[in-house]
Amino acid sequence: MPDLIRYIDLIKKGNVVAFPTETVYGLGADAWNPTAIQKIFTIKGRPSDNPLIVHVSEEEQVHEFSDHIPDSAHTLIEEFWPGPLSLVLPKKSKVLDAVTAGLDTVAIRMPDHDTAIEFISKTGPLVAPSANKSGRPSPTKSEHVKTDFGEDFPVIDGEATKIGLESTVLDLTGDQPEILRPGSISRKEIEDVLGFSVHESFFDHMERPKSPGQKYSHYKPKAEVRWLGAEEEPDDQDCLYLLLTSNYGSSANIINFNNDLDLLARQIYDRLRQADIEGFSTVVIENFQDMDHPIIPALLNRVQKAIG
Ligand code: TXA
Ligand code: MG
Repeated sequence: MPDLIRYIDLIKKGNVVAFPTETVYGLGADAWNPTAIQKIFTIKGRPSDNPLIVHVSEEEQVHEFSDHIPDSAHTLIEEFWPGPLSLVLPKKSKVLDAVTAGLDTVAIRMPDHDTAIEFISKTGPLVAPSANKSGRPSPTKSEHVKTDFGEDFPVIDGEATKIGLESTVLDLTGDQPEILRPGSISRKEIEDVLGFSVHESFFDHMERPKSPGQKYSHYKPKAEVRWLGAEEEPDDQDCLYLLLTSNYGSSANIINFNNDLDLLARQIYDRLRQADIEGFSTVVIENFQDMDHPIIPALLNRVQKAIG
């Protein structure tokens, strides 16, 4: 566990600090300090209508932000927290507009990461978007945060994040729960725990998404991103190929994930960043939509946004 004292002090003085979670690195600020939260928007270049997720270290802290916690929330918290599931709940009136972007709901999650939990238990609840410049691939290593925000930026060091895609965002404020952003906790897992079906809205109303983050361009490297063609050979030296099947082996510009979609999810943002560092013009990804794996909707959502 890294020494957290300096970072706790920075948060208490109203600054932002990047920290690891199980999904991606977050850019944390005190959830009750509007000046600190404003710094997040400035540093990231984040549109002000995109709300933030509150990160807690104890279930009790949810009550600071919402006093309408449905039974379904208790059930899901019991099953999935700490973990990559953000719950959208009706907000208490005192929750800052800077957190919710003026919405009457607030998203909350408890990260499954010892350092993050230790940190938040000392600072109190933190809002934390992914610690990247808006539009760039999310950071899964501390060096990604430094690439975007500079060598001297305060980042709590940790390993590469173990999941690599952001949390599932689930809205519990409507008649039926609705997945606003797919993540590694799948619709089926949520339905199995709740015992009834949930909606998924992330592909149908992109024009006016309920999760404002879904409408922005995201996860984009400078390189073009596209799917591998059905008959295409991976033989262009200007392309970085991310393949799933083993027909072509591996080389400097061919990464073979050997049908391991969890590994592709864990590495996708790092590989998109690698393409820019190494000067590839294009990232070519083998299609995985016909495979059977619970991470597919989340991975597909990120790849489609990177393709743009
Ligand atoms: O895994 C994660 O969730 C990471 C780590 C750091 O915890 N955080 C993250 O934050 O991905 P961010 O800000 O990059 O994405 C937050 C998403 C956005 O799509 C935003 O629109 C949505 O959550 N969101 C936040 N509050 C919401 C609300 N009240 N209603 C609907 N969507 C909300
Ligand atoms: Mg983000």
